Amino acid sequence: MSSSADARLFTPAVARNKDVIAETLLPRLGQGAQILEIASGSGEHAVHFCTLRPDLNWHPTNREEEQINSVNSWRKEATDKIAPCRHLDVTLHPWEITADYDAIFNANMIHISPWEVTLGLFEGAKAALKPGGQIFLYGPYKVNGEHTAPSNAEFDRWLKDKNPDFGVRDIAAVQKVAASHGIAHQTSIPMPANNFIQVFCLPS
Ligand SMILES: C[S@@+](CC[C@H](N)C(=O)[O-])C[C@H]1O[C@@H](n2cnc3c(N)ncnc32)[C@H](O)[C@@H]1O
Repeated sequence: MSSSADARLFTPAVARNKDVIAETLLPRLGQGAQILEIASGSGEHAVHFCTLRPDLNWHPTNREEEQINSVNSWRKEATDKIAPCRHLDVTLHPWEITADYDAIFNANMIHISPWEVTLGLFEGAKAALKPGGQIFLYGPYKVNGEHTAPSNAEFDRWLKDKNPDFGVRDIAAVQKVAASHGIAHQTSIPMPANNFIQVFCLPS
């Protein structure tokens, strides 16, 4: 693909959730913060958030080349505070990144991937973040082993049909993985459409 080709992907879910995520996430990010985004997908979240907050230094990553190309197409339209999208598979350690990040943002990944991906996410995050750095995970969760809505139970069945290792995670199980790396669960923020933003924090 030539560098001038338009490789932008358009994700309907992002069009629906980008405003509500921005309202919750952006006030929690410090001025000029360095943000590592894991599984940036199309890049539409990065562009939306950095258009609203041009002070942020956003570092997108993706595992798939098609998505890397999409982010790099989208970022041409946006602030120069979005870095070129880099390859990152969170299960491959150590992560090929060098900076100390203030925060990690990751949307809709840990249920659409095997459990090893959640394990890899927290292992890598511990090394990638500054002391006191935060992790923001957006998506659906079970609470006390129960789905929070019938539509999430149906979604969970659909995910497991697709791959038995996929599935809506219980927040307690994710907290346990975080705790095994000394990462505390700070808060669980209910979001529209039966989603949450889960906030985790490294010790200062
Ligand atoms: C449903 S998409 C979400 C993309 C984007 N965050 C969004 O909200 O539109 C799930 C993403 O998880 C990524 N993913 C799955 N396993 C991964 C891994 N081991 N390392 C990094 N990304 C992974 C996929 O490549 C895909 O981009």
